Amino acid sequence: MTHAAIPSKANPLKGCPSPALKGTATVPGDKSISHRSLILGGMALGETTITGLLEAEDVLNTAQAVRALGATVVRQAPGVWTVHGTGVGGWRAPEDVLDFGNAGTGSRLMMGAIATTPLTAVFTGDASLRKRPMGRVLQPLKLYGAEYDTQPGGLMPVTLKGAAQPLPVHYHVPMASAQVKSAMLLAALNAPGTSRISQTTLTRDHTEKMLAAFGAEIAVEPLTAGGEAILVTGEAELKGIRIAVPGDPSSAAFPLVAALLVPGSEIVLNAVMLNPRRTGLLATLQEMGADLDIRNERDAGGERVGDLILRASHLKGIVVPPARVPDMIDEFPILAVAAAFAEGQTVMRGLEELRVKESDRLAAIVAGLRANGVRVEESEDGMIVQGMGPGGVPGGGTVTTHLDHRIAMAFLVMGLAAKAPVTVDDATMIATSFPAFEMLMGGLGALFEPA
Ligand code: S3P
Repeated sequence: MTHAAIPSKANPLKGCPSPALKGTATVPGDKSISHRSLILGGMALGETTITGLLEAEDVLNTAQAVRALGATVVRQAPGVWTVHGTGVGGWRAPEDVLDFGNAGTGSRLMMGAIATTPLTAVFTGDASLRKRPMGRVLQPLKLYGAEYDTQPGGLMPVTLKGAAQPLPVHYHVPMASAQVKSAMLLAALNAPGTSRISQTTLTRDHTEKMLAAFGAEIAVEPLTAGGEAILVTGEAELKGIRIAVPGDPSSAAFPLVAALLVPGSEIVLNAVMLNPRRTGLLATLQEMGADLDIRNERDAGGERVGDLILRASHLKGIVVPPARVPDMIDEFPILAVAAAFAEGQTVMRGLEELRVKESDRLAAIVAGLRANGVRVEESEDGMIVQGMGPGGVPGGGTVTTHLDHRIAMAFLVMGLAAKAPVTVDDATMIATSFPAFEMLMGGLGALFEPA
């Protein structure tokens, strides 16, 4: 039931040494906000209009799931979508299995949204998603009264039976995961009374912001020991709103780092979201000496956005503060590539969550760096990359992407600045988050070749 089928044949691609990147580009809409817009629109009464929706595989699968549950989801024009929701608790059982493809966010948030509605749904996904732990979301959803069945190890396919008489809960999310936090917040919407979800480490807050915008009763309290508690009052009445999705900083990361690495480059990336829970990469690159300016900072659709101006830079290795990791959790593949071109070593720790992303990302990064002549030490929760200086990375290797879009894009960027092209075994999965990647990068001057 995948909305727009990803071709099953691998598509190997080469990133080739490129001339200076020049020009201005606008990155696609934020993936996290796109998923949440569709889900909350589907739970609200009245019309939600979304502009700038990310039209990528992951998000299209969420749109399809929201439709299968009874909401009306219509693409009106490129990037412009309307959702007519059913009201909280109004979803009906889907007729078919819900297939989320590669999308951890879509599937885990939808588990939360369904957990307090009396219906049964089966969740599945591609070979990558079927290896990812679902117990971290399902176990706490049980507190609301939901029941479930999984494959051994808490894997998909998962059958989830939403609670007929949900209870409000108090739950402390034990890991730095916005997906788990968000699933619990969405489930709270149809439980009577107030649920309290807390987390020691702050993670992206798009669900909280959007719940407030849709009219939910929500409060955020700081915890004395650090972190915060979020209180959501259930049997909520959400009302449709207008949402303008800002540019995705996690997609911007690829042209951004490419411009820092390819000599002579100077580019502008328009209207990139600057939510502080998402800007860890910018802070890290600035500490590494990146020539990076933010101009025209403004509010757009409830988020801070700004234009990024990047010029090729001589980077130096640093120790990335582990406390910053949640604010750049998706950016480690491309940061590791930047570190390979830096002077000196870059130390990255506190990365245990990378082991349960679209691939074991830590292992995939380390293998990709080694395949291209970069020395790197791997530990259970981190890596130390020995930088080779600007232009110093040999390249010439082939990288196994393990169905992981960010591994594919990061190593294609490496090839633009390395001595020899870098091949990725399969670029297909880039369509899950950034279908226009090749076109946008090509427009700035990046060279790719079929491998
Ligand atoms: C996301 C949260 C993060 C991130 C993912 C998107 C979200 O996952 O890696 O790409 O939209 O909530 P975790 O919650 O597993 O850290």
